[in-house]
Amino acid sequence: MVDLSRLSELIPAEPGTADWSIPTRIRVGLARAAEVTEACREAGIARPLVVSDAGLVASGTLAVVLEPLTETFGEVAVFDSVSADPDRRCVDAGVDAYRQAVCDGIVAVGGGSVLDAAKLISLSIGADRSIADLVGSAESVTEPFAPVIALPTTAGTGSEVGRAAVLSIPGESKTIIFHPRLMPASVICDPLLTVGLPRPLTVATGFDALSHALEAWCSPILHPAADAIAAESARLALTALPVAAYEPDHLGARQQMMVAALMGATAFQKGLGIMHALSHPIGAIHRTHHGLTNAVLMPFALEANRPAIGPKMDRLATWIGIEGGMDGILEVISVQRETLGVPDTLVELGVGSDGWDRLVDAAVVDPSAETNPIPVTSEFARRVLIAASGG
Ligand SMILES: [Fe+2]
Repeated sequence: MVDLSRLSELIPAEPGTADWSIPTRIRVGLARAAEVTEACREAGIARPLVVSDAGLVASGTLAVVLEPLTETFGEVAVFDSVSADPDRRCVDAGVDAYRQAVCDGIVAVGGGSVLDAAKLISLSIGADRSIADLVGSAESVTEPFAPVIALPTTAGTGSEVGRAAVLSIPGESKTIIFHPRLMPASVICDPLLTVGLPRPLTVATGFDALSHALEAWCSPILHPAADAIAAESARLALTALPVAAYEPDHLGARQQMMVAALMGATAFQKGLGIMHALSHPIGAIHRTHHGLTNAVLMPFALEANRPAIGPKMDRLATWIGIEGGMDGILEVISVQRETLGVPDTLVELGVGSDGWDRLVDAAVVDPSAETNPIPVTSEFARRVLIAASGG
């Protein structure tokens, strides 16, 4: 006989309210980059602008995507000048390239910076306004955007399934531009596109994926579907990251990391937490790599949140198959950080204590702070900074 009174204790008494969205079409698998032409046709693209960066041209990765495109569409316009952390100048230049070649859609091939730049170009084209004029008002844009096909070449940000894009403001910080239609029309996750990624970037981006899964899992926002996705994303990332780093040609691990990354980004519809609230200003001010900064902050952020997340992390450990509950997960993260060459502290990352006030002030108002399981006060943010700096 089922004990209904015990079961009912496990269910919130009041039904919650939420908005959910998990709709992107995603092709996953080896050599599926060749299907980029079909993805274009489905999205109504006949004259694509290929958006990428110089590194992917030099490594030959871009050629894998350009070949089928030129075979089908003839000569294809390429904008390969996306820089790390793209700013308005970069986006405006992409818009010019799009207009000059009279394109009707975008094929984005690259990591988070390229995908974000492509999404912002598509928004700017749709709104017929410079991206600088859309900061703070993007959500009011009603015009259709230029469709984007996303082919990630890293496994980390998950920007390929996200409704937000990061725009850098030179000399200041970064701003996040959000619009429900910023999501690419479709995604191709082909692990062959990530095999050339150097180990430090594989590790840094991989930890970004893991940080999304963990922070989404710990976010108190109601979203059981995203919880399930976050938990499995964490399991996939913790299993595959060391293999992808040390056996870079292991295509199974490469693909598993790509899937973990897009699942992590899908899950963080629930929001993130103190890891991201601090890593955003640290990255903007100290120019540190976003994923690596999260990797450094990870154990200290989890530890600071322990009073609110202990039982939930125990449940995650059970799902992943790690013994020892939350302590077991922290132990696995600690071993992976050490094995994969993540600096122990922010000091080793080059972040001194001189600018802490600015970091604390920025972290408290960062949108990611809103969904941390413990309210992010100045005192809380400073405590994490002290711990992450070896104090
Ligand atoms: Fe991130």
